Amino acid sequence: MAAPIRILLVEDDQEDAEYLTALLARADGVQFEIERTDRLSAALTAAPRTRPDVVLLDLTLPDAQGLKTVRRARLGFGSVPFLVLTGIHDETLGVEAVQEGAQDYLVKDKLETGLIVRAILYAIERRRASDEAATLRQREALQREFVANVSHELRTPLTAIKASLESLRRGGLSDPQARERFIDAIERQTEHLARLVEELLAVATLESEGLRANPKALELGTVIRQILDDFASKAAAAKVSLSAEGGFDSLKVWADPDHLAEILHNLTENAIKYNKPGGNVRISAQESDGVVEVTVSDTGAGIAEDEIPLLFTPFHRTRYATAKNISGTGLGLSITKRAVERNGGRLWFESDPGEGSHFHFTIPKAP
Ligand SMILES: Nc1ncnc2c1ncn2[C@@H]1O[C@H](COP(=O)(O)OP(=O)(O)O)[C@@H](O)[C@H]1O
Ligand SMILES: [Mg+2]
Repeated sequence: MAAPIRILLVEDDQEDAEYLTALLARADGVQFEIERTDRLSAALTAAPRTRPDVVLLDLTLPDAQGLKTVRRARLGFGSVPFLVLTGIHDETLGVEAVQEGAQDYLVKDKLETGLIVRAILYAIERRRASDEAATLRQREALQREFVANVSHELRTPLTAIKASLESLRRGGLSDPQARERFIDAIERQTEHLARLVEELLAVATLESEGLRANPKALELGTVIRQILDDFASKAAAAKVSLSAEGGFDSLKVWADPDHLAEILHNLTENAIKYNKPGGNVRISAQESDGVVEVTVSDTGAGIAEDEIPLLFTPFHRTRYATAKNISGTGLGLSITKRAVERNGGRLWFESDPGEGSHFHFTIPKAP
């Protein structure tokens, strides 16, 4: 049998509540679990916590009457659908309630089991469908924005390359100093383009539904040591000390090896790139609540408070990164976040502007 449908009944009249409960108990093939409160304020506090499937809301409560109840409910119940209960003499109120955001209305004196059950099931289904449509619209909007950003991001280095080539053609070739400058610029922009294409490919791979993560049991120590090796010379060139805190040698995680390498690669690269000479980067890991939590800490620029909410947005680069002319695409962290989530983990960070940042992610333990 399907899971019971959880109802939050907001009704102060004891008799009405009992009558409704009795009618619902007679339903065929559907089970209801009813929680009741007699105040709107109590319902608004309870709903976000208990997340009922549907709310049945009386419109004459001690702390809220009529359409005011509906307006407060629409804001307070968020995505939980609600039906209003009206008396026989105020059916128009029911219609107005629907216009204000209720999914439907039930007239108390005309209640009958089949009718209530149908209204409840429709309300839940309609809300689910409209939530799905909203998610889809949101995803389409994000995709359009992404494509527009991609075009812009590709065009910028291409324009710069074209300009340098033109300058070379118009005499730049004969002046050795100018020639070097233009060739350097072309090289830098070409590298940037190559990087962009590579990262866009990573985004596309992670987005495509067909390519599921391919997790295995991995020794975390081995993966981290590989990263330390890969970045040893980059860290030295940036005068940043790179180290790992011991204690994770016995930890085995359950992850896609390519994804885990990519995640650690991106976070370590950022921690070095946005650091200062003399700074350090530390990688540590520990087990907590049945998962492994890995942390990459740096003593770098940190992230200004107003930029924190934007950090995982594709192409977003902080003012610090652009002002300092540090090369990058702004795609690494959004790729990293997707990769972590694909492997059943979570990615977050804390930052002290001017002091440094700590990026954390969780990954399941190997069985
Ligand atoms: N450890 C860090 N310390 C400070 N800023 C960071 C750090 N990691 C990322 N950022 C900021 O977040 C932006 C996005 O990072 P990311 O997606 O990896 O792109 P990229 O490094 O290619 O610019 C960076 O441009 C930088 O401004
Ligand atoms: Mg990066």
